[in-house]
Amino acid sequence: MKRIKNETSVERVRAVTKNFFIHFQSPKIHVYSLQPSFTYGLGIINLSLFIILLLSGLLLMAYYRPSIADAYNSILDINNVVTGGRYLRNIHRWAAHGLVFFSIIHMSRIFYTASYTRGRSMTWNIGICLLFVTLLTSFSGYLLPWDQLGFWAVTIASNIVSSTRELTDILMITAYFDPGLIIKKLLLGGTDVEQNALTRFYLLHIIFLPLIFILLTGWHFWRIRKSGGLNLPDKVDDLVMARDPAKKEGSKLIKNEYQLFSWPVALWAEISIFLTVLAILSIFAFLIDAPLKEIANPVMPENPAKAPWYFLGVQELVSYSTFGGGILVPLLITIALFSFPYIDKEEKNIGIWFSGTRGLRVTLYSGLFASGVIFILSSVLVGLGWIRDWFPSVPSELLIILNPGIITAIFFILYSLIIARRTNSIRLGAIALYSCILTGFALFTAIGIWFRGPDWEFIIWPFF
Ligand code: HEM
Repeated sequence: MKRIKNETSVERVRAVTKNFFIHFQSPKIHVYSLQPSFTYGLGIINLSLFIILLLSGLLLMAYYRPSIADAYNSILDINNVVTGGRYLRNIHRWAAHGLVFFSIIHMSRIFYTASYTRGRSMTWNIGICLLFVTLLTSFSGYLLPWDQLGFWAVTIASNIVSSTRELTDILMITAYFDPGLIIKKLLLGGTDVEQNALTRFYLLHIIFLPLIFILLTGWHFWRIRKSGGLNLPDKVDDLVMARDPAKKEGSKLIKNEYQLFSWPVALWAEISIFLTVLAILSIFAFLIDAPLKEIANPVMPENPAKAPWYFLGVQELVSYSTFGGGILVPLLITIALFSFPYIDKEEKNIGIWFSGTRGLRVTLYSGLFASGVIFILSSVLVGLGWIRDWFPSVPSELLIILNPGIITAIFFILYSLIIARRTNSIRLGAIALYSCILTGFALFTAIGIWFRGPDWEFIIWPFF
């Protein structure tokens, strides 16, 4: 590996101008950034998944027909007639799920190493936008096969959007201002899921959202480069030396000794991550087929009609209150995510997983706390009914706030405030909140996948 010691600025400029790779990657990279246990290659895994999505999507476009008369049959053709079509469709679907999953994991690695600090708030914010664009791109693709699964998932989602009516009705302004209906009409090109909706979802899926993703990714990478690479721990050279016993015995550590030219070391690391991702996805694509249900039937709802896994948590919350669970809670989570870099200004323990052992303890306790809250609230819901059963005359407006989703959110916020106060650390309070959100997301998703059956009733539940 080539180490930078006496490199002059002229040499540095020459290296950058001659090499395309170094236009989007810092010319220098610290060896610590390349340690798998620091980033786990998660950002590059996301990039690899996106590239695979783009290439497989372009090939699928040659065979897919975006009309409600032909869409389903074109998918059958891709599956059964086109050479390699089934592999292409499968790899596209698994890469899409993978991108959602690894974006959340990457965000968590950034969060738990406090990498959003030291001037990286914009990189973090762009990342959150990337996560939302990923969710929307994946979801817009769901409708394209025009099967029962996608059709009813999109129908449910469009009903959630129009649930802002619950609020505007209370304010008595629905007749003048109905934002949910406006967004619904914009998305579907009408009030129902028909040809206009398919055309709009198709355009969103193949042009607008990927384009936004590419622009945001370029900006994300540029910000990382402008910040001088990754957010490393304060005494990073000592950490590297601690793992390199030969060095300890040798002469004193020379400043910059652990900086490498990123070309070609980083490129090789990135290519190997890409090839590993491609190989693992290919195995998935050969072994497991992407689901395809019967052709969409607007008069025969799926029961239960389940959203894709990443929206099942929201669907669970929506079963308590459409507006509270479908709009208010996601809004609160979004606000929390965007605000972390602005509330956590602590300079200590940056680049250290969980900010040290105290943070690890807070993470574990918060996970336990969140599981307890959700378990008790869900059990109460299932076993004893909810406010509507206990007090049948309760006004329905009250249930927008007094529902398990909002109450869970209030518990999480109060708990994090207590942690921040008791530990005298905003960072630890933020860790508590993020861990509660992550646990909530995982548990509500699991409930939606495994415990909900027809009519969204619990099919198995340990206590009732
Ligand atoms: C979905 C597409 C995404 C791609 C392709 C992507 C790509 C990358 C890459 C390659 C890196 C550098 C290496 C690494 O840390 O793993 C990185 C760093 C970073 N990412 Fe992402 N990312 C994505 C999503 C996100 C999300 C969802 C967030 C958080 C909300 C985020 C926030 C950040 C931040 C703050 C850094 C800088 C870390 C530092 O300076 O130490 N990214 N991203």
